[in-house]
Formats: sequence, structure tokens, C-alpha cells
Amino acid sequence: MMPTATLTLFLIFLTLGFHHVRSNTLTPESLPSSPPEQPHRTAFHFQPPQNWMNDPNGPMYYNGLYHLFYQYNPSGPLFAEHMYWAHSVSHDLINWTPLDIAIAPAEPFDLISCWSGSATILPGNKPVMLYTGIDSENRQVQNLIEPKNLSDPYLREWVKYTGNPVINLPDGIQHDDFRDPTTAWLADDGKWRIIVGSQKDKKGIAFLYQSEDFVNWSMHESPLHEVAGTGIWECPDFFPVWVDSTNGVDTSVMNSRVKHVLKVGLFDYQKDYYMIGDYNFVNENYVPQNELTLGTLRYDYGKYYASKSFFDPVKNRRILLAWVNESDSQADDVAKGWSGVHSFPRSIWLDKKQKQLVQWPIKEIETLYENEATVQNKNLEDGSSHEILGITAWQVDVKLSFKLNNLEEAEKLDPSGVDPQLVCSEMDASKKGKFGPFGLLALASHDLTEQTAIFFRVFQNNGRYIVLMCSDQSRSSTRNGLDKTTYGAFVDIDPQQDEISLRTLIDHSIVESFGGGGKTCITARVYPTLAIKDEAHLFAFNNGTESVLITELSAWSVKKARINTEENVGRASQ
Ligand code: FRU
Repeated sequence: MMPTATLTLFLIFLTLGFHHVRSNTLTPESLPSSPPEQPHRTAFHFQPPQNWMNDPNGPMYYNGLYHLFYQYNPSGPLFAEHMYWAHSVSHDLINWTPLDIAIAPAEPFDLISCWSGSATILPGNKPVMLYTGIDSENRQVQNLIEPKNLSDPYLREWVKYTGNPVINLPDGIQHDDFRDPTTAWLADDGKWRIIVGSQKDKKGIAFLYQSEDFVNWSMHESPLHEVAGTGIWECPDFFPVWVDSTNGVDTSVMNSRVKHVLKVGLFDYQKDYYMIGDYNFVNENYVPQNELTLGTLRYDYGKYYASKSFFDPVKNRRILLAWVNESDSQADDVAKGWSGVHSFPRSIWLDKKQKQLVQWPIKEIETLYENEATVQNKNLEDGSSHEILGITAWQVDVKLSFKLNNLEEAEKLDPSGVDPQLVCSEMDASKKGKFGPFGLLALASHDLTEQTAIFFRVFQNNGRYIVLMCSDQSRSSTRNGLDKTTYGAFVDIDPQQDEISLRTLIDHSIVESFGGGGKTCITARVYPTLAIKDEAHLFAFNNGTESVLITELSAWSVKKARINTEENVGRASQ
């Protein structure tokens, strides 16, 4: 018989509609004995060897290694009641060595599940983690763990603090509405701070806690921030960015040269939103310059959730990782034996105009580059395309820039009150415009039956130009029963001053696109059946009546990385 706590949790998931992406446990016995061929497993995106994965947890750099933990169900390819923290380490954020499970449900304070959390490096170079436990009473509480042996370079074993939970469910908050502690920051008054995601009557809340010793935490009288009507905030992240540099900033830095980013995952929408603002630790005041509304800033306008950032002291940058879930069905996941990938690590910084963030794949991807294809000054007339040859089109990093002339001819569009995603789905890649659609056809079959189109359209409004970026999955696979939603967002660039650039990472079933040098990002999951392996093609195209000029195009085949493969075990010390 199901224990009451289990049953309640399961019912809650059903009520919340959580079962669209997550469900209860699948036993190892019900897994297919010999998994079918796996054309949609990725080559250079992080995945476990099998089973369900969701959020990145506690990423950090410590003594020569990057550590990445993640939400994991060791028993099967679907989300489960009992979640674990799996653990991998890397020298370069590209190749990953799998280690043993780091945290498993076991104690009264995490008996049901071990949910997401974050790492903090304490003075004296001592890493600790705070994570959410679902306790034996089915309440979400915050727990502390530390490495068993600091001289183990891999930090394989983690010990739960015996005084857990260090933070209990606040009064008046529902038992399942309190989770995902952030990396802590330390202010000049000697106190650590963290925030924890929550909600009350659909008001999203980031509760603020303070501690002098990391063990005794007290809730500050007011939350760091809250916004009515947004539902529970999951996986909050709070970090500084330089106003005048693309470098990263360590989480505790507070001065007039930084602004603070508050990112929250809206569970009801499964999307990550962020605000940029000013933070003052003396009165614990956070004033965002843009308030959170559904139309505002997102890290990524496609599939991208539960992200977490960390400061990389070696390369002096802030790195962002996220969970990218599947667009196929649970039955497909059972057949595949796995579900979920992580986005390729991105550097993240504040744009010069200080109104938004910019993201860019980390430079280490270049270590996987093989052959390069280049194109220069190629004019694309109305209805033409150019196949990019000499690369492996299903495993590739491609960058290109478009120059437009006669922009005064652009069609009109008043962007106020317009939902760019809707415009993209109504005007998909097959609909001719004046300037656009132009861009890339990724994972395309030779006859274009299958294609994922990432493209731009340019409009004008009162002497200003509006650049729309779309990722159209409607023809991405001949298979039915997939989520083929088209995504779209505006790109804050002026095509009169700047060329329109696009960079896309294509990796079997994930297409991550960066428009305008990383100002607008869109990630999609696709499952081609024809455009796989050598049958996949990559084209630059223009389906607008005005011609566009590709000034520069470079594409590189990307080698397969060693990600959680057996061959990589034991390489951690190299
Ligand atoms: C976000 C999330 C977190 C939670 C974890 C459970 O995807 O729902 O709020 O800690 O996943 O796996």
C-alpha cells in the first residue's frame, strides 16, 4: 500500500498538472532491456547515461574541478517521488566524469525527496550545500550538507548536518510551497543571506534568511521580493553583474559598480524570468528596474527552466546552466530510457544598455571543433538558400551575420501589446515577408520535409526598426505527438547600425540559438526521423522578397564530448 505521504504528494502532482512533464516512479524492471538506437541522445550537451534528470544543482568550482549535481531519478526515465542528487565533475565544463549519488532521501528531514539547492564556498575554502528536503511529514524544509573529506579532490561523499533542517516551513505557507535555497552572499555586517522560493495565495515570494554561522538562520521581516499573481517561484537565483564589464562577479560583491539580478522560475509557466535592479543589504531593499510580468525578460524564449548560475573564479566569469526538458511523450521517454538534458554552459553578463543580460556559449566549445566551413559575402535573393557543406550538420556550431539594405522598405509593425511568439507562429518560416524570414534551416532533410527554422523578420515603426527572432519547430519531425510549439521574441538591436547575427548550437535533438550576439536566446527540442546523422543538412535561407547579404558565416563540426560515459570514469584526475 502507498504510504499516506506518498499518496498525498502524488495527488498534488496530478492536481497541479505536474504529470505533463513528471510522473511517479518507473521500476528498473519495466525499462526496455536493450534500448533502441538513440539518435536523439546528445553529443555535447550534459546528460546522465540513462534515466530522468531535471534541474542543475549546486554547480561550483572547487580546487581544480567543476562540480555539477543534478536532480535525478536512479530508477527510471520519469520524474519520481524520491529524487536524488547525482554528481559529476569536470576540468573544462565539457567532458564530465560521473561519480556516485551525492544525496539520497534517508533521514526524517529528507525522507521523501532531496530537491534542488545551491553551493556556497565558505571562508577557508570550504564548500557547503543547502538543499530542499521533503520530510517524513511531507513538508518542504531546507537542509545543510558538507563534504565528508575535503582532501578528496572529487568530494565524493557528502554528510548531512545532524541538526537538519536548518530552516523549517514558515508559518502560513503550504507544506509544498517552500523550496530551492540559493547560493549565499555575505555582506559587510558579517551575515550570510539566502533566498528561498515560495508563494502565498498565488503571490510569488523570495523569502530572505540571514545567518552568522550558516547553521542558525532567521527569516528577515520582509521578503527580498514578491509579485502577486505569479504563482510559486522555483529555483530563485540572486547575483551581481558588473555595469561596465562582461566579466563575472562573485556572489557577495556589493558596490556601486554592480547591479543585482533576481531570477525566478515560474512553476505555473515552466519559464525562467529575471529582473535587474539595485540591492542594499542595510535595509534589505531590492528595487528592480523592470517589474516581473509575463511579457518581460526571460533568459531564453524557448525551453529552458530551473537554471542556476555560479561564479567561476578561474576564468572570472558567471556561468549559467539550465534544464531543457523533452518535447516528446512519457511513453517515448520510457522507450528511450531517459529524459532531460542540460543547456550548453553559457557565460552571462549585463548588456551595455543595462536593460538586459547577454548570454554566450562558453569558449571551451572550441576544444570540440573539427572541420570548419566558411562563407563570405553571399547574397541571398528572395526564395534562395545556401547549403553549408563540409561540416557535420547534426553536430555543429554555426555563426553568421546578415546585412540588410533599403530598410526603409520594411513592413510596419507596432510592437506594443504584440506577443512576438504569436507573430512567429502565425508567420512561420513558409510565410513570405519583405525582410524575412531569413536565417538557418537546422536538422533539415535533403528535401526539407524536416527542418527547424531559426529566422528573423525586420519591421519598422515610427522611424525605429523592430527585429523579431523565431524558432519554428512545426516541420521539425515527421513524427506526430510531439510538442512542436513555435517560439519567438524581439531582439533589441538596430539593424541600421549593426548586422543581425545568429549563432546556433545543433546537437541531435537540441537546437540552442543566440540572436543579436546573445541578447535573445531560444532553445528547442526536436526529434527528426529523416534528418539524422549524415542525412542531416544545414542551410542558410531567405524567404523574404528583399535580398539579404551574409557577410560572414563560420560553422564547425563539434566532436562528441565524454559526458558521463564509462570511458570517462577515472579520468577526473587528469
Ligand atoms: C524545478 C523543481 C524545483 C524542485 C525540483 C524537484 O524544476 O520543481 O522547484 O526543487 O524541481 O525535482
